[in-house]
Amino acid sequence: MASSDAPSPPTYEVDISTLYEDVRSGLSGKNKRLSPKYLYDAHGSELFDRITEQPEYYPTRTETEILEDVAGELLEGVSELVELGSGYSRKTQILLDALEEDGGDRYVALDVSQSAIEASAPRLIEDHPKLSIEGCVADFEKNLDIVEHKGRRLVCFLGSTLGNFVPAERVKFLDRVQAMLAPGDELLIGIDLVKDIEVMEAAYDDSAGVSAEFALNLITVLNRELDGDLRIEDFEYCAPYDRDNNWIDMKLRAIRAVDAHFAKIDFDVHFDEGEELRTEVSCKFKRERFERTLVEAGLKLTRWDTDANGWFALALATKVQYRTRFRSKL
Ligand code: SAH
Ligand code: AVI
Repeated sequence: MASSDAPSPPTYEVDISTLYEDVRSGLSGKNKRLSPKYLYDAHGSELFDRITEQPEYYPTRTETEILEDVAGELLEGVSELVELGSGYSRKTQILLDALEEDGGDRYVALDVSQSAIEASAPRLIEDHPKLSIEGCVADFEKNLDIVEHKGRRLVCFLGSTLGNFVPAERVKFLDRVQAMLAPGDELLIGIDLVKDIEVMEAAYDDSAGVSAEFALNLITVLNRELDGDLRIEDFEYCAPYDRDNNWIDMKLRAIRAVDAHFAKIDFDVHFDEGEELRTEVSCKFKRERFERTLVEAGLKLTRWDTDANGWFALALATKVQYRTRFRSKL
């Protein structure tokens, strides 16, 4: 048992070295943007959890419905479940029940949010006594190789977090994920599908204002980590659907001209009135386009399950055995 004067673990971690660089490159000039991973400090993780409970946010409950239908079949013969961007591992409980029932023995939760991993671990351990539960605080864009391969594996990437990558980054990411798979292993990806624009836009700008609070929390994160003086009241949240790119474009727009300073990295940032900072995109998929993306990353679709409305899909993929790469002569 920990003694009362033992140092308490940090509740928030960002990879400070990348934050410094990302802020310098992402907030200079026009086209301002930052990686969505910075949204998930302890408070951001809680806010995302609250988003999933909003009536307008259909992805979580729809994906849960599909998981409940197919979990038993998906986990047949699987020995270890590795989840990327696990958050509080709530929907994962459905997969873990099936894993445990089918004789599997290991669950690895990998997330950049230490607080989310630590908050969920005791519940997972208690509910699944036959499984070895491991938490891994890591960046899934950089550290996938830290999860040792121990048995027939199902990697899962739920919640349509794949949609938070722009297309070029998405293929690079999937290419790295397929490297985590041995022949016979599988990858399960939850993806949100293109649907009525009003339904999608409402999900990302809920009437209770939780989505707005989640995005605006980025300002608090930046001020705290970089000793900055941005003011939340100088920004408003907007999240329109971009039909050309098939994504919700989440941004903070400066209501007036803003000048701020991040003392820790001696960096000035300027926003014109109306200028925007993209906090994340959330891409909506169609099956054919998604299958092409898989192929580009050396994967192939083996199973496709959706809800009755066709709003959300669970895609199962394996690694292709032979891959031909062509290098252009031009
Ligand atoms: N899988 C959960 C949570 C989705 S929210 C669900 O479906 O509800 C996205 C999760 O990905 C958050 O927990 C966030 O902390 C994590 N995340 C975002 N960027 C990450 C990165 N680069 N590396 C690891 N985790 C990341
Ligand atoms: C984690 N990710 C898949 C969420 C989404 O639906 O794109 C993030 C989110 N941001 C605001 N609302 C939800």
